[in-house]
Amino acid sequence: MDKIGIVGGVPLKGEISIAGAKNAALKLMVAALLSDRPLVLENMPGVADVIALTHVLEELGVVVTIDPDMPSRMTLDAAVIASTTAPYDLVRKMRASVLVLGPLLARCGKATVSLPGGCAIGTRPVDLHIMGLEAMGSTIRLEDGYLLGEAPHGLKGADITFPQISVGATEHVMMAAVLAKGTTVLRNAAQEPEIVDLADCLNAMGAEIEGAGEAVIRIRGVEGLNGGRHRVLPDRIETGTYVMAAAATDGEIELLDTTTDYLGDAMGALEAAGVAVTPTNRGILATRANGRLSAVDITTRPYPGFATDLQAQFMALMATATGESRIQENIFENRFMHVPELMRMGADVQVHGGTAIVNGVERLHGAQVMATDLRASVCLVVAGLAAEGETVVNRVYHLDRGYERLVDKLGACGAKIERLAG
Ligand code: EPZ
Repeated sequence: MDKIGIVGGVPLKGEISIAGAKNAALKLMVAALLSDRPLVLENMPGVADVIALTHVLEELGVVVTIDPDMPSRMTLDAAVIASTTAPYDLVRKMRASVLVLGPLLARCGKATVSLPGGCAIGTRPVDLHIMGLEAMGSTIRLEDGYLLGEAPHGLKGADITFPQISVGATEHVMMAAVLAKGTTVLRNAAQEPEIVDLADCLNAMGAEIEGAGEAVIRIRGVEGLNGGRHRVLPDRIETGTYVMAAAATDGEIELLDTTTDYLGDAMGALEAAGVAVTPTNRGILATRANGRLSAVDITTRPYPGFATDLQAQFMALMATATGESRIQENIFENRFMHVPELMRMGADVQVHGGTAIVNGVERLHGAQVMATDLRASVCLVVAGLAAEGETVVNRVYHLDRGYERLVDKLGACGAKIERLAG
């Protein structure tokens, strides 16, 4: 298993191009199932999760081609759905593959999709996905770890209130509703920018979706969709991650092809911590506003709240900030696995249930640490960049899932970082 070696203490200076958002790209790929005409996606990120989902879609008969001259351009042609079964050995590699269930029900009237199973940060149930699809007239039963869905007469519009906000369930039911008979209303819908991006793409293909990005989304079902062309929005989590890397190392990085628009409450938290995030004509400039960083309390919430996907990275920043910060993780039940690893580097963190109390220390010190999930991994990279001495992050396959060319991007900003074959 590959590792990443870092010699920290070098202020990062330079520029980093931000890729298309992984958590938008994956759903946009699934959306291709809804049409028998090709969908062209631009600004696709070169990450392992996209490759894993490509394999699932190809298993279903989708023809996926990458432009050899422009690898960030992907064409998906679902003219023929050769199979409605998404097998366990493919789905388990990328949980969001479960979202093919709704589009297959909408397009083909049946589907057999493996339950994705949990992951390091939580059990990741899909009960809200199932609730929404059943409300639209499908029957879904669990058999041998597979969801067996049927909608022989197609899906019908429904008025659905989610008992709790779920990004995936909102996207899943929104996609299925595009081809349902009648109108579907989603209440207590997630409002993430990636949902707006998905709705924009579907509308460009001929769907009739209103209200994406708000708490109530209305989808008027249509007979069928055309093809389309859509540019994936910038990855706000990659953006926030590199902003924090710049601040943690007291450097200055210009992040290209991105914006501060989608950072939600993280913007305020960063500014309060003493991080200057300034729009430029190419993107944004990230530096410390003045010298040391200050401790800031955060609570993760659905968008526009502080993104749970930035919590671990922010903790790495708070590890050497002046004062005590309280970090409340409200979205996932097990998203503090980076804490024991940060403590190996000298961080002072105490966890009480869903709250971590971080007392800033003068310096972190490099150590051997273990990556456990995607965002915990990058938290350890940020900490290693700021720490004195050498850090080796083990099991970096987690990183490859969601960060395109991370070593190259940081190395180009002066980081002493290399990938070590494991
Ligand atoms: C998406 O996961 C993202 N993944 C996650 O990013 C992100 O952390 C999360 O949204 C929250 O923003 C992708 O988009 C591929 P949820 P998702 O449904 O859709 C519970 C990363 O690092 N829940 O909003 O799975 C669930 O257990 C990943 O890029 C149910 O109880 O998140 C969680 O506690 C990690 N039943 C909460 O809701 C359900 O049916 C929010 O989950 C669905 C969810």
